[in-house]
Amino acid sequence: MSGATRVQYETRDGIARITINRPEKLNALDRQTMQEIDRVVAAAGDDPSVGVLIVTGAGERAFVAGADIGELSSQTPIEGTAYARSGQAVLKRLERLGKPSIAAINGYALGGGLELAMACTLRLAAESAKLGQPEVALGIIPGYGGTQRLARLVGAGRALELILTGEPIDAREALRIGLVNRVVPPADILTAAESLARTILTRGPVALRYALQAVREGLQMTLDEGLLMEAALFGLSCATEDMREGTRAFVEKRKPAFKGR
Ligand code: COA
Repeated sequence: MSGATRVQYETRDGIARITINRPEKLNALDRQTMQEIDRVVAAAGDDPSVGVLIVTGAGERAFVAGADIGELSSQTPIEGTAYARSGQAVLKRLERLGKPSIAAINGYALGGGLELAMACTLRLAAESAKLGQPEVALGIIPGYGGTQRLARLVGAGRALELILTGEPIDAREALRIGLVNRVVPPADILTAAESLARTILTRGPVALRYALQAVREGLQMTLDEGLLMEAALFGLSCATEDMREGTRAFVEKRKPAFKGR
């Protein structure tokens, strides 16, 4: 039994904190780590007390410095495809969980590390962070969604520059191109992520879920299809107790007490 040794999982006050915990290898993602991420993400999804997830890396140097290169080096083509598909499935579960997630990028976010961060809903970076897709330097391409999510986040031109040069960028540049939402001093990264999480936690949980769905699914649709889905989800939100509570609280000049239904 491997046990949950490579990923720490804690829940407190509506926030699940997932810490990739392999600092001696800069939190590189080996199979066991990916399996543990999958398990804790599923647990956060199933736990009704969890409203927001924070994903971060243990230690001060790395968020995640990539997929484990030692494991990668011995892959056959068939194994490589299966490896990429299974990692993609883990990150897709996180992306489609229906609960917002925040990557607190406390250091290197390279390769699979950047791919993990991009599967999160929002990204905060420490000023000291370095972000990149260095795979081509190893003779491979990103395999956990990097070619797809990076281009969707920052556009094909910038994504291709990062992917083809393999050069990392710093947090300021990542902010400039829209790869991260905010940059904060390294010592403040977790506090900033928690503060953002707490703001989100005050909002209507069903509305958050529909908003996530509308944006994520809509990105894969034509504008007309996306607008139709938005209208349907908007209509559904009008049927919730949360909608009645939210609008009533505004009129009564008080804070809403959402129940998530
Ligand atoms: N896979 C496996 N091990 C990794 C790793 C990865 N992606 N990234 C770092 N490590 C290990 C190193 O092998 C080293 O282990 P060791 O002490 O047993 O030799 C340890 O983590 C510390 O890394 P080190 O390279 O000594 O630190 P550094 O400060 O000199 O360099 C980086 C930091 C991030 C620039 C460098 O580790 C690096 O380039 N890592 C690979 C990044 C990458 O290509 N990721 C994409 C993989 S697809």
